[in-house]
Amino acid sequence: MRQAGRYMPEYRAVRERLGFLELCHDPDAAAEVTVTAAARLGVDAAIIFADILLVLEPMGAGVEFPAGDGPRIRRPVRAAADVERLRAVEPGALDFVGAAIGRARRALPANVPLIGFAGAPFTLASYLIEGGASHAFTRTRAFMLADPGAWDALMERLVASVAAYLRMQIASGAAAVQLFDSWVGCLAPADYRAHVLPHVRALIGALPAGVPVIHFATGSAGLLEAMRAAGGDVIGLDWRVDLDAAWARVGHDVAVQGNLDPAALLAPIPEIRRRAAAILGQAAGRPGHVFNLGHGVLPQTPVDHVRALVDAVHELSASARHAG
Ligand code: CP3
Repeated sequence: MRQAGRYMPEYRAVRERLGFLELCHDPDAAAEVTVTAAARLGVDAAIIFADILLVLEPMGAGVEFPAGDGPRIRRPVRAAADVERLRAVEPGALDFVGAAIGRARRALPANVPLIGFAGAPFTLASYLIEGGASHAFTRTRAFMLADPGAWDALMERLVASVAAYLRMQIASGAAAVQLFDSWVGCLAPADYRAHVLPHVRALIGALPAGVPVIHFATGSAGLLEAMRAAGGDVIGLDWRVDLDAAWARVGHDVAVQGNLDPAALLAPIPEIRRRAAAILGQAAGRPGHVFNLGHGVLPQTPVDHVRALVDAVHELSASARHAG
């Protein structure tokens, strides 16, 4: 998760000549950082370089990434009238992401699948309503509870735009797609079930059958069964749950992805290897475990530590296969 990012010198070099949004809009450069990161790390799958907030640009929200600061939304959604002003994404408006996917696909080795992604509707709504990053998501929760009609209208617009966007990514060569519901963990389970689950289910239902959907959230310990009910072929776990217990909760008939604490990559390599082994031990050789971090690579992470993790997972899961 966040394979290409500021922790990687090759990425920082590209960012010296291109702003973040410029990089996202440039299919050659976006494909290059995607492929470079996957090769440098030796991972089994690549994730296209893009951002969950790109879909909000053609909706008219005004997305900015000021240097040295989190993302900012110039025209936040604060009332029902703001929801009505959001535009449907015009066909073609995000084709630069499709072009990057096509180029990355052609440059990657045939046995390395390319993952597309989008923000889930709650997390996108939280950026629209808060106007940027947030810790408590108070405005978002207040909007949802005070005006459920406007909330549903907002979620429906996001679902329509994100579904079209993901279908385009799949048509362009994404072999699987990941939905990032990064901030939905701020909700009470009952509110998730009432105000989020039906929209996520509609979104996943609007995607073509046969393309795996990875459904990821952080802070989701209280929501796992409800996320499973919303859908997805793989449930993405953060590190605040034990993988074995979480997998039992969602059911062994669904795959799970995760869940090393990204901060573990700041520890010495022997400790990283011990923690990778512990997670693989919890997965216990069952089919359907995708090893991953529980969230994105932290900016201060040494690249060699990420590479050491990938090597450890390959070694340890190969020896587990032999033992089993
Ligand atoms: O993994 C990859 O290589 C794909 C790239 C990727 C980015 N953003 C690139 C990026 C992915 C999968 C995302 C998703 C994304 N974007 C999420 C969901 C994942 C998560 O972390 O929960 C979210 C919440 C965003 C929104 C976003 N974009 C934030 C909050 C920030 C600021 C982060 C910061 O520390 O400043 C971004 C910018 C961003 N997106 C960067 C990258 C590499 C850093 C921008 C830079 O180069 O300065």
